[in-house]
Amino acid sequence: MKINEQLGISLRTVDKEIENIVKFDKDVPRSSDLAQSIIGLIRSGGKRVRPLMVIVGSRFGPAPDERKVWRLAAAAEFIHAASLIHDDVIDDSPVRRGDKAMHIKLGVNRAIHVGNYMSARVIELISVYSADRERYVYDLSSLVTTQLCLGEYQQLSHLFDYDVTIEQYLEKSRNKTAQLIAACLRIGALSAEADEETADQLYNFGEKLGMAFQIRDDILDFTQSSEKLGKPAGSDLRSGQVTLPVLFALQDEALAPKIRAVNEHTPAEYTDEIIAAIQNSDALEKTEALSQQYLTEAQQIIDRLSHYPAHRDLKVLLKFFSGREN
Ligand code: FPP
Ligand code: MG
Repeated sequence: MKINEQLGISLRTVDKEIENIVKFDKDVPRSSDLAQSIIGLIRSGGKRVRPLMVIVGSRFGPAPDERKVWRLAAAAEFIHAASLIHDDVIDDSPVRRGDKAMHIKLGVNRAIHVGNYMSARVIELISVYSADRERYVYDLSSLVTTQLCLGEYQQLSHLFDYDVTIEQYLEKSRNKTAQLIAACLRIGALSAEADEETADQLYNFGEKLGMAFQIRDDILDFTQSSEKLGKPAGSDLRSGQVTLPVLFALQDEALAPKIRAVNEHTPAEYTDEIIAAIQNSDALEKTEALSQQYLTEAQQIIDRLSHYPAHRDLKVLLKFFSGREN
């Protein structure tokens, strides 16, 4: 069963709500390139994990407000989709969700404007909920976007930097991936008037899932076939990203100097050899163990929330993020 079905959430309704952001945009005609590009991106796929998390979060509050929750869920996906447009430009990546990336379709200049427009529009849209009591909405719009940008910048400023620490890697992953996922659960909960403590627990749970997700993504870059990844295995290292498997492999004294020799000018055959050496080292096991640790901590948070019937939804999310359901 698909994750949304397990959670009892209709993806069609989620998608409709996201598209409504574009369709009811008073300043942008639906037939315009701008609106059509955004609708095309939304329709090209995605599991809508972030909107699902907003909705799950709302199940932890005594006063769910359907209208508001769906709007916030759609906003979360909009922020995520906007960030992917920018990410593909930065990564020079031609494909997104099995389709041509926005910058390939429109050119870099226009794609950047589409991404900027989406993230600015979403802030404006959800600012209607910015009364004092609803300050948490500000987290989703402004804070989350700021942290996404920071995370991306941290990643960019450490390309081929083999002195980056595990703590720096984790902070970057938190900013780039985990905090949006965490904020989705928290704002969903607060929108339904959940108490602060529960909302914070949900944030922590989301953060653990997000960290495990990013770490697993970094492992998959080494372990999955190129057909599955849509890019050759080891692409992260080739493009200078020093991810957790590389950091653990650097602890191997024999391997470290060989890894440190990889830079943007390294011949592909040499990098291939290093990637194979990392695959054959114990680095992937150590990385997996850290990911598992985050999942175990997430399970402990579920246990603390087990008096809420919705804790079962957290179990579904945990299973999904641990890779046993996708
Ligand atoms: C995917 O990374 C990208 C992100 C998780 C977020 C990137 C954030 C930005 C580019 C800043 C966004 C700016 C605004 C204004 C919204 P990845 O390259 O590791 O994953 P991929 O394989 O899906 O590309
Ligand atoms: Mg990318």
